[in-house]
Amino acid sequence: MDNTSLITGGAGFIGSHLAERLIQEGHNVVVLDNLSTGHKANLNKLLSHPRFRLVVGDVTDVQCLAPLVRHADVVFHLAASVGVKLIVEKPLTSMMNNLRGTEVVLEQARRWHKRILLASTSEVYGKNPASSFAEDDDLVYGNTSKTRWSYACAKAMDEFMAIAHYRESGLPVSVVRFFNTVGARQSNQYGMVLPTFVSQALRNEPITVHGTGLQSRTFTHINDTVDATYRLAMHSDAAGEVYNIGGSTEISIIELAKLICRRLKSTSRIDLVPYEQAFTSEQGFEDMPRRVPNCDKLDHLIKFQPQFTLTDMIDSVADYYRPVRETAAAV
Ligand SMILES: NC(=O)c1ccc[n+]([C@@H]2O[C@H](COP(=O)([O-])OP(=O)(O)OC[C@H]3O[C@@H](n4cnc5c(N)ncnc54)[C@H](O)[C@@H]3O)[C@@H](O)[C@H]2O)c1
Repeated sequence: MDNTSLITGGAGFIGSHLAERLIQEGHNVVVLDNLSTGHKANLNKLLSHPRFRLVVGDVTDVQCLAPLVRHADVVFHLAASVGVKLIVEKPLTSMMNNLRGTEVVLEQARRWHKRILLASTSEVYGKNPASSFAEDDDLVYGNTSKTRWSYACAKAMDEFMAIAHYRESGLPVSVVRFFNTVGARQSNQYGMVLPTFVSQALRNEPITVHGTGLQSRTFTHINDTVDATYRLAMHSDAAGEVYNIGGSTEISIIELAKLICRRLKSTSRIDLVPYEQAFTSEQGFEDMPRRVPNCDKLDHLIKFQPQFTLTDMIDSVADYYRPVRETAAAV
């Protein structure tokens, strides 16, 4: 055992922060990423580190993946197509990527019997109207004509596959359902609300709130998400289990837009954009009115309480986007 962690999708937002944490904890880290939405620059702090290696490749390429899984002690499977905009605009590619990628990674983890964490999402709860979601709550989806649910269904199938591997072969797999996670390096291109609002506010452009803005969410700072993910991976009692990882402060999207304007002293106005205009390729786009995690199960196992506030999150995203804005202004 040489204490090696493999992160698929490690050049993305969450994966790059997780890679830094694992290096800090003394692990060797290998990142496998096809750089479809991730960037080598996200790993700038690590590229020359002696315990770090980036492999550019696709998780569905078994020849590339198999030796990496074989030589890893822990696999973090984060590679996926992510973001409502991406899913709605490229439904087939996204769905196949999320189903096939997980199938292949789980097969390889089973082949070498490796500890594995599978990244899932709060989207799996779908339209369940509960005021907060616990891991054993029902998953409720809309019609298959609504592309948006394909992401949730693909991730739910990934979870079914993971749990079936645990039951059939004892694969030590855990599923983590991330609720909206935010921080530096998160892209504003694929429909992630907080980085989109922050970059609009920094440019004093209209902030585009979809629907009425009364839909509410919680947000989690990337450091809290990474901390919980890391500690779960190291905990043998987490095998075969599903965990929510999320924040506790609920806010409506319109209030979030106002808070970001105040915090960044922005002169942006707030525009309400109907879903039909925001997602032109999706007729009758459906959204969930609330999405709040119950994290009691996580807290019980690893004593998890979020350490960062929403203001910390806005500040760290703004710090990340501010130099871009200043460079753009200087051109
Ligand atoms: N960010 C969030 O708030 C959030 C919420 C819920 C779930 N998640 C899940 O967390 C994981 C990471 O999300 P993220 O926000 O860091 O997204 P991201 O887009 O920044 O990262 C995904 C990474 O996977 C890579 N990738 C995609 N397909 C690949 C493939 N076939 N082979 C190799 N690499 C591939 C991309 O290039 C990218 O670097 C995903 O599984 C996502 O579904 C994220």
